[in-house]
Order: sequence, then C-alpha cells, then structure tokens
Amino acid sequence: MTVAVVGANRGIGLEFCRQLSERGDDVIAFCRTSNAELESLSLQVIEGFDVLSDVWNLKTLIESTGKDFDQLIHVSGIYTSESLDDLDFDRIRTQFEVNSLGPLKVVSAFRSFMKNDAKVSLLTSRMGSIQDNDSGGMYGYRMSKSALNSAGKSLAIDLKKDGVTVLILHPGWVRTDMTNHNGLIDTNESVSGMLEIIDGSTMDHSGQFFHTNGEVLSW
Ligand SMILES: NC(=O)c1ccc[n+]([C@@H]2O[C@H](COP(=O)([O-])OP(=O)(O)OC[C@H]3O[C@@H](n4cnc5c(N)ncnc54)[C@H](OP(=O)(O)O)[C@@H]3O)[C@@H](O)[C@H]2O)c1
Repeated sequence: MTVAVVGANRGIGLEFCRQLSERGDDVIAFCRTSNAELESLSLQVIEGFDVLSDVWNLKTLIESTGKDFDQLIHVSGIYTSESLDDLDFDRIRTQFEVNSLGPLKVVSAFRSFMKNDAKVSLLTSRMGSIQDNDSGGMYGYRMSKSALNSAGKSLAIDLKKDGVTVLILHPGWVRTDMTNHNGLIDTNESVSGMLEIIDGSTMDHSGQFFHTNGEVLSW
C-alpha cells in the first residue's frame, strides 16, 4: 500500500508515519521541514511541501516521487484561539488558508496521482461541528474546520465516480505541540483508532465524519 502523509514531521502526522511504516506500507512523508525522528523511519521524505503554496508547486513535488497512491492522509493544520473580545482577523484568515484551503488544494494536487479505489482521509476537528459547539469562541479554528468538513463532503460526492473514498476524521483530544501536550489520549491511541476506521472503510462510509473512537459525529 502506497500512502502519502501530509504534515508528517511531528505530532499526529509523525505517528501515522511510524505506524504505517512499521506495518510495511510504502510511506511518502510530505512536510515543510524534516527532522531526525522522521528520517529514522523507513520511508521516503519530501520536504518543502507547504500547503500554502500553489497547486502547481505541490503537484511538482508529488510527481517527483514517481508514485501513484492508494491513500492520502492530510494531517497538516494550525490552531490559534480568538475570543469575541480579541478577534484577530489576520489569524482567522491564516487558519482558513491552512485548515480549509490547504487540504482542498492538496487533494486537488494529488488527484491525478491517486489509484482507483484510493482513500483520502482529512484530519478535521470536532470543534468544526456546529451542533457540538457548546462553549463558543475559537472563531478561526472552528470556522476553518467547519469549512473543511463542508469541502470534505463535496469531495466525497465529486470523487465517487473515481472510486475514491473520502473520510473526515477527528483525532480526539491528543497530547501534541498543538495542545501544549494537554489532552485525553496520546498520538499512538489516536492514530491506531483512525487507522482502524480507514482500514475498515468502504465507499459506503465516504463523506462521513468520524471520531477516532469510531463514533459518527454530527455536523
Ligand atoms: N491535537 C489535537 O488534540 C487535535 C484535535 C483535533 C484536531 N486536530 C487536528 O489534527 C491535525 C494534526 O494536529 P497535531 O496535534 O499533530 O498538531 P501539531 O503537532 O501542531 O502538528 C501540526 C502539523 O501541521 C503542519 N503544518 C502546519 N502548517 C503547515 C503548512 N502551512 N504546510 C504544511 N504543513 C503544515 C506542521 O508542520 P511544521 O512543523 O512545518 O509546522 C505539523 O506537521 C491538525 O489538522 C489538527 O487541527 C488535532
């Protein structure tokens, strides 16, 4: 199985790389900057992959691998917190660029390098669920992940004719740099849960929003 992991150098992305390479998958790790931990795994690293760059640049890097992919796992994301009394619109805009437009751009760039029956997994957040929002705030992160969920649903519909399954995944509250290492679970548990969902998924699950514990989340 040839798998592309985008946002591979740390946190949840690095753990995807570790678990996938340990089980023998052919992993191509796309990141902005590599490091010793990533390089110690048995995989190919492609650096300079910034989801803020244009589709043409991303395509060139993907093409340089010479691969066609069975899976794309899009992990990259950023989080900043804005309250109603502290609305920094530049930060909100940047979260849209990275969290919403980034994955859409990356899927578009990978499109011609995906095999038939490929799977695309988009890491979103439960904070993007409008129904689940019972604490307010976090305008940029919530809005950008809701927009990603919306894009994920359209991608599931549009890519069905190519046999591509699209999963929209919440990793849980995970101890990483993003959460200042607070959280309920570690990356190992988060990624094992998501891999179980991905492995067990069929086209019938395309366009669904899953928690890493297997629960289907509301929009
Ligand atoms: N941790 C949680 O509790 C949690 C909960 C819900 C959802 N999520 C989502 O899960 C995903 C992974 O989160 P994490 O906790 O592993 O976060 P993290 O430790 O902060 O890692 C974020 C990753 O995104 C990459 N990234 C950021 N901006 C990028 C850009 N412009 N181009 C390419 N890559 C970029 C980072 O690369 P650099 O090193 O180059 O910055 C890094 O690899 C994110 O989408 C996040 O929103 C996390």
